[in-house]
Amino acid sequence: MMLASHPAKRISFNRTIGDGDLVIVYERHDNMKAITVSEGSVLQNRFGVFKHSDWIGKPFGSKVISSKGGFVYLLAPTPELWTLVLSHRTQILYIADISFVIMYLEIDPGCLVLESGTGSGSLTTSLARAVAPIGHVYTFDFHEQRAASARDDFERTGLSSLISVGVRDIQGEGFPDEFIGLADSVFLDLPQPWLAIHSAAKMLKQDGTLCSFSPCVEQVQKSCDALQSCFTDIRTFEVLLRTYEVREEKMESIHGDSNGSNGSLPCKRRQCSDGNYVLSSHTSSVMARPCGEARGHTGYLTFARLKCSS
Ligand SMILES: C[S@@+](CC[C@H](N)C(=O)[O-])C[C@H]1O[C@@H](n2cnc3c(N)ncnc32)[C@H](O)[C@@H]1O
Repeated sequence: MMLASHPAKRISFNRTIGDGDLVIVYERHDNMKAITVSEGSVLQNRFGVFKHSDWIGKPFGSKVISSKGGFVYLLAPTPELWTLVLSHRTQILYIADISFVIMYLEIDPGCLVLESGTGSGSLTTSLARAVAPIGHVYTFDFHEQRAASARDDFERTGLSSLISVGVRDIQGEGFPDEFIGLADSVFLDLPQPWLAIHSAAKMLKQDGTLCSFSPCVEQVQKSCDALQSCFTDIRTFEVLLRTYEVREEKMESIHGDSNGSNGSLPCKRRQCSDGNYVLSSHTSSVMARPCGEARGHTGYLTFARLKCSS
């Protein structure tokens, strides 16, 4: 089970790993994978062989050691980590956009959310946690195989009771009539979202919120045109994230005097070519610098609120 669908079942640091649990095997921040624990199975990687049976009964977050003395961490599967390990069947939304969407759409426990397309289910997973334990996410994709794979993933992550996946051409047919006036929020990640906006407006409760994600500004312009008639407070954002790498670096500082005093820092005498000694001390500092591999533009998020009818 991935997440809290009920506060009593919430994964906490003292929940232990059981046979059949999904765990995130963490090697480094850029090297993780999701594994279902199965007594009798092993994980083999560059750090050695890890027996799943050794994991059972350990708390999430544990460091486990391989036959060769290597180690990995076993983390609880959260939507944040799932987004980093899921299989990419489509482009996906990442944490910066996802968190902004959840806040700006005002999604909270009990909400009914409509989404299209489902894609790889990256956003859907976070939507499900936000609406848990009594809300629901109805997500639609016109690609049958993609919808089926998303369903399998939601089963695997234990979220299937919070998510229904439908196969439907939302741009062509709109959302199903059974949701008219019931949705708190609608999220669109479609190539031509403006074709679905009229239907989205019909689905929303009074004061309901809509968000459309599009990579290109031309799509944003067409969506904003379509939003004018039924929506108000239309705003577009581009979320740009700058990630910093935090590392402890050893630094050597050299001192000209040789009386050996340097506070409490560990000192070492080094002989120079002229025969004199200098003292060098090793200090370590935590350095932060922007990551080289920073992700830039992902897309534009256009938000709007349904106009009040009265
Ligand atoms: C970029 S993906 C969505 C990714 C998703 N937001 C995520 O975070 O994983 C777009 C999806 O829209 C679906 N799609 C495209 N046109 C559609 C339509 N007319 N009706 C329903 N789904 C459609 C595609 O099959 C694709 O899976």
